[in-house]
Amino acid sequence: MNTVLITGTSSGYGRATALHFHAQGWNVIATMRSRRPDVLPESDRLRIVELDVTKPDTITAALELAGPIDALVNNAGVPSISVFEGTPMARVREVFETNTFGVMATTQAVLPQFRERGSGVVVNVTSSVVLGDMPLSAVYKASKAAVEGFTSSLALELAPFGVRAKTVQPGACLTTNFAGKAMNGGPLDELVPPPYAPFARKAMADFTGQDLFTQESDVAETVWRAAHDTTGRLRFPAGPDAVRLAQAT
Ligand SMILES: NC(=O)c1ccc[n+]([C@@H]2O[C@H](COP(=O)([O-])OP(=O)(O)OC[C@H]3O[C@@H](n4cnc5c(N)ncnc54)[C@H](OP(=O)(O)O)[C@@H]3O)[C@@H](O)[C@H]2O)c1
Repeated sequence: MNTVLITGTSSGYGRATALHFHAQGWNVIATMRSRRPDVLPESDRLRIVELDVTKPDTITAALELAGPIDALVNNAGVPSISVFEGTPMARVREVFETNTFGVMATTQAVLPQFRERGSGVVVNVTSSVVLGDMPLSAVYKASKAAVEGFTSSLALELAPFGVRAKTVQPGACLTTNFAGKAMNGGPLDELVPPPYAPFARKAMADFTGQDLFTQESDVAETVWRAAHDTTGRLRFPAGPDAVRLAQAT
């Protein structure tokens, strides 16, 4: 039986992906920054393990607990909606620590076992922002575009060893915790210098008023498809808004 380790399964796309792989008969190592046994049904096939992608010791400990795995899904991510001029560099680094360096750290930790075994797949969850141009997302998009570049080169390095690397590019979803984290508590206001305010308000209204959104199940099914793909295809848009953007590019 195959085993997948997924990061950021306490909510949203990661939780849905854990449930999907479990329903398809895989063993699931559902990792979270802090254990939340209430959000997923723990069993001998679904184990909840602590892993913070910004803390290397937790990556090592989680992989030891997990044993051999066949797939790594780098789903953990943080949002950043802001005007770039108003975004402190400390915040920029924080976003990259999770969205970019976190992905690299977990990937580097699993590669030896994949390479030695001659199989395995890394699926990196990026975003449909990489497919189009969207304001207020300069930092977030840069952090995800870096993962796109990282994965495309990595896939070539790993192919000779029978190891695959893919990206899944989800569209926008208002039902995960993501939008709330991005907008509640006023980070948007804090990070919008007053001269940008009318522009930022209009951009946010355009975003929330768009006609297509992604469902959590779209991402779970697309991650599943990407993990099983052996055609050499690298990128998988997930959700109708992401697919539309991909078709337009
Ligand atoms: N929702 C969207 O519109 C959207 C669109 C495109 C792409 N995405 C991407 O999809 C992925 C999942 O997002 P989502 O919408 O499901 O949001 P979500 O509900 O906020 O889930 C994000 C997950 O990442 C975890 N996480 C954050 N920082 C972490 C860290 N340092 N180490 C380990 N886990 C960490 C969160 O854990 P905590 O509960 O501890 O915070 C949570 O489990 C992210 O990579 C995001 O960038 C989302």
